[in-house]
This record gives sequence, structure tokens and C-alpha cells, in this order.
Amino acid sequence: MNFETLAIHAGQEPDAATGATIVPVYQTVTFTQDAIGHDRGFVYSRSGNPTRQALETCLAALEGARFGLAYASGMAAVAGAMQLVKAGDHVVVADDLYGGTYRLFSKILPGFDVRFTYVDATRLEEVAKAITPETRMVWIESPTNPMLRLVDVAACAEIARRAGAWLVVDNTFATPFLQNPIALGAHVVVHSTTKYVGGHSDVIGGAVVVDDEELATKLRFAQNATGGVPGPWDAWLTLRGAKTLAVRMRQHESNARRIAEFARGRREIAAVHYPGFSDHPGHDLAAKQMRGFGGMVTIELAGGEAAARTLCESTKLFSLGESLGGVESLIGYPWLMSHAAFAPEEKRRKGITEAVVRLSVGLEDAGDLCDDLGQALAKCR
Ligand SMILES: Cc1ncc(COP(=O)(O)O)c(C=O)c1O
Repeated sequence: MNFETLAIHAGQEPDAATGATIVPVYQTVTFTQDAIGHDRGFVYSRSGNPTRQALETCLAALEGARFGLAYASGMAAVAGAMQLVKAGDHVVVADDLYGGTYRLFSKILPGFDVRFTYVDATRLEEVAKAITPETRMVWIESPTNPMLRLVDVAACAEIARRAGAWLVVDNTFATPFLQNPIALGAHVVVHSTTKYVGGHSDVIGGAVVVDDEELATKLRFAQNATGGVPGPWDAWLTLRGAKTLAVRMRQHESNARRIAEFARGRREIAAVHYPGFSDHPGHDLAAKQMRGFGGMVTIELAGGEAAARTLCESTKLFSLGESLGGVESLIGYPWLMSHAAFAPEEKRRKGITEAVVRLSVGLEDAGDLCDDLGQALAKCR
């Protein structure tokens, strides 16, 4: 079955008890057992819940893998995947990563004696050089947040595999509609489903997807032991969002291209980062490992920090806010928002300067979005 069909049907058979066509919200803590040791597949909702299971089955299918786990947030999913490593293990991390993930890796996990080496993963030789005998995991995002750089998933998977390590890909920006890391050789896929998968900015969630049964068993054990699961309503909302992921992503991409082209023609903007442009340094790699270029556009204002701040505070349709991937357009200032956890020199080294503004292009009319950006840019001169 193809993506659009799986999104609507995988894990979503009519309800066995009632025939309900739409997966019900199983708002229950516990499940009555027929006899001691005889349950009907569910025991207690931290360990498993039918609504959550429907979402997990669907997400696994969308990633072309066998096992999915839903979490209470993207960060709970990141933390869940990190429960695969133990004290003394070493992780190679692509340094262009979400600030919250960096916060966990730099402030929490070193306290458990997990060690991290940060590399520019667009340079594969750096990834290979950072591997040590203790390396158990390589962690990347592609496209990266917010600079939309491309990392070669298949090549990183091969480096990890040769080292006896797992490649984890945070696939939040690409979504399973545009990229399936497991088909490219990755071992673990992580999502903040808060973003495109949920798609309506009304529910926080996360997911981990694997195809390896042993990894799935370890992750499930750790998830049950630590408890970061979503409630059934949140799982239901996320599943409802996932059903329309394909149509939304096509329109996000079409609108993003219009915005990127519009931005490129404006003298207030010094640079436009959009992997769909043929002169984007990651364009060929994106075309090879993705099925499209996504809905994010990052721009650099010619007028520096003052202009970037003015822009962020002057748009009317683009809401100034954290997050991305919803039907409504958002504008963000990575320097002080999504990437606040990084030291200033770290941000500058990655190209995230005070002039950078990130656009999550929504599903409003593209002409209206261009008009909004245009009126706000006119204030940035
Ligand atoms: C790439 C990426 N991964 C993980 C997360 C964390 O997700 P959540 O906010 O759902 O915890 C985010 C959030 O912005 C993100 O952008």
C-alpha cells in the first residue's frame, strides 16, 4: 500500500468491540482481565493503550518499519532513544541540531556518564574520525534546524554500521512523507510529532520507529520503566493529523517554494536557505534521499539583528512563536528562541547569527503570505 492509504488505514481497522470506523479514544487507565494472567492484549495504559497502539502502528508503517513507539513529546522520544545507551558509551552527534536535544545531551546525559562528540556531519570524514571503540550511536538531523543543511543519511548509516553503532535520525523536519531514514540504512528514527505529523499545533507528541525487533524490545522496556507515554486523546489527535500528512506536505512545499522565491527577490534579505533551490549546497543530496524539499525556509536579513527583530514582530499572518509544521505559518528567531540553549559562539559557528529568521510556511494562500512578508520587510529597511 502507498503512503496516503497507510496514513488513513494502517493500525486503523474498524474497532473490534463496536465496529467504530474511527479508532476510539480509549480513555482508560486499566483493562479488566478475564482471569488472573488472562488479559485481552492490554493491561495498563502506561504499558499499552489501543488508541496509542493505532498511532504507533500507523507511524511505523509510514516509516516503512515494523515497530513504532509513541511518546509524550518529541523530547520524551529523544530521551527514550537515548535509553539505548548506558554509562561509558560514546555518541557522535551532528552539531547542527535542535536546541532542546543539545540541552539534554550537554546538561543531563553527561551526568549519567554518556559522552558526546559534536561534528559537522555534512563532512563525512569528521563523522568517521570521531568514532571511538566506545561509540554506540551516531545522531543526526537532516535537513538541519534551522539552517536546512543536508546530511548524507546512507553514508552516516554505513559509518555507524562499520563501527557497530546505531544511526539515529531525527526526521522531524523531513517527515516520513519526504524521507524514510530506515530505508537509507538508519537504525532508529525519531520524531517530534508535535510538528508536521500532528500538523495542527494542537498536540505535543513524539515517536521512535525501528525495524529491529531487539531494539524495539529494549525501547519498549525502557518506555514502560520510565513512563513518558502520551495520553489517549493526544495519541488520537496525532493520528488524526497523520491521516492528512501527504496532502499537507505537498502544499507546505508548494507554499515554501513561493515564499523562498519571493524572499530571494527582496533587497532586505541577504540570503535564503531552501534546499529546493538548485544552487543550495545540499540540493543534490536532498533530491537523492528525499522525495521533496519540505516547508521550511530560513532567511538572513541584510539589516542584521535590528531588521530580523523588526521582521519577526511585524508579520501578521506569520505568528511569532516556537514550533513549526502546523497549518498556520510561524516565524521564529533561532538566536533567542529554538537555539537559545547554544552559546553565542557556537551559534555563530553554525551560521545561526542574530540576522537569521526561520519561517515555517503554513497552508494559507501563498499570495497572502508573500504580501504579509512584504509589508513586514518594508519596515526592515
Ligand atoms: C528537530 C526537533 N526534534 C525534537 C524536538 C522536540 O520536540 P517536542 O517539542 O515535541 O518535545 C523539536 C522541537 O522543536 C525539533 O524541532
